[in-house]
Amino acid sequence: MKTMQETEQHLQFRFPEGFWWGSATSATQIEGAAREGGKGLNIWDYWYEKEPHRFFDGVGPEITSDFYHRYKEDIQLMKETGHNSFRFSVSWSRLIPDGTGEVNEEAIRFYNDVINELLACDIEPFVNLYHFDMPLSLQQIGGWESREVIDAYARYAKICFELFGDRVKKWFTHNEPIVPVEGGYLYDFHYPNIVDFRRAVQVAYHTIVAHAKAIRVFRSCQIKDGKIGIILNLTPSYPRSQHPADVKAAHIADLFFNRSFLDPAVKGEYPKELVALLKEYGYLPTIEAGDLELIKENTIDILGINYYQPRRVKAKEHLPNPHAPFMPEWFFDYYAMPGRKMNPYRGWEIYEKGVYDILMNIKENYRNIECFISENGMGVEGEERFRDEAGMIHDDYRIEFIREHLKWVHQAIQEGANVKGYHLWTFMDNWSWTNAYKNRYGLVSVNLDKNRERTIKKSGYWFKIVAQNNGF
Ligand code: BG6
Repeated sequence: MKTMQETEQHLQFRFPEGFWWGSATSATQIEGAAREGGKGLNIWDYWYEKEPHRFFDGVGPEITSDFYHRYKEDIQLMKETGHNSFRFSVSWSRLIPDGTGEVNEEAIRFYNDVINELLACDIEPFVNLYHFDMPLSLQQIGGWESREVIDAYARYAKICFELFGDRVKKWFTHNEPIVPVEGGYLYDFHYPNIVDFRRAVQVAYHTIVAHAKAIRVFRSCQIKDGKIGIILNLTPSYPRSQHPADVKAAHIADLFFNRSFLDPAVKGEYPKELVALLKEYGYLPTIEAGDLELIKENTIDILGINYYQPRRVKAKEHLPNPHAPFMPEWFFDYYAMPGRKMNPYRGWEIYEKGVYDILMNIKENYRNIECFISENGMGVEGEERFRDEAGMIHDDYRIEFIREHLKWVHQAIQEGANVKGYHLWTFMDNWSWTNAYKNRYGLVSVNLDKNRERTIKKSGYWFKIVAQNNGF
């Protein structure tokens, strides 16, 4: 058998030195202890209490993967699966239970312990401030629709930078900020379940204002060697054909779903075409004096890119019903491309080259900003059926998924893209919003029938070798 060093010499896909290998998680999805340790309620705790039937198998966020109690064991498993970096989010409602008031000492202790334990294991903590989990008290005053919440968020960010910035050097303001806009204000899959394009635009805009304020605060804190960014789910929009009407449809989808956050975050301004379109239909948000300068002056240092699947669109076949609520889909239809490769266990398309297309777009049109793949992964329903008698899940499909995406990441790096790392979604199986434990994504399985016992999957052992060799 070859030794590790021998294998290393024969790497076909070697990544740049210091490449970040790891995974991403979020507080609500792994911590559990939803009503422990002085935590306040957030919108997920509240919504689950109100409408448990909307959650897969009726499972809510109370326990999830119990990271709150088992973080030490989990961090050991990160080591065993080759992590040199790990993203988690701070739960705003744990740190500041009512969103604006007293800081919770137990939460400070918990996050300090997690950070210290990671560092002791040579795993760099990447901290995200907001992953879909608005404190309930702030949702009650309007959530991201309210300017007060923007200020509360900037204060929360400052508290985090001051408490943890001596050890945490990679910071992110939001994860996939468009998702709460889509889920909460357009398509009804997050609380507060509103369907209203005007309010959606305002929420999206306020999220960017809050992001820019947090960056301004970050810079004033002068965290040594600190970098700050945002994590965006970029979905390349591919037209059905090169017919101008299809191309235009794809272009508009790109404006709404990618560039509405990407441009202000990296370039400090909204795409002119998006502004013109919103103006034409009467949906410009309310903008306060000084906002646009704030956004202009506070662009990111580093971009996290989440990529799962592309968006395939075509020109609209029928004119939108003028009485139907205004939606981005007034301008395009979705298109199921014949022959596309699908994940048979979750129903999402798999298109590995999409990751390369995104990275080359960032290289060419977004000042080749420092970036990394902050999420990519394969969800599998019913994964328990792949567990062998010894308890290991044989997830060869996930190994192939990661490997094929990594090849395209590698290609983009060869062509000059400034890519610093690859984080998988996710470290261990976790609870996902209304999908609860339906789709499993982890390198480590969490057996819900066996007291949430953790077992490294085949992909976890494979990932470790790739990380150790810095390639494959
Ligand atoms: C990403 C989110 O968009 O997708 C995660 O950042 C989420 O929070 C993941 O869990 C997978 O989604 P799902 O619905 O398949 O569990």
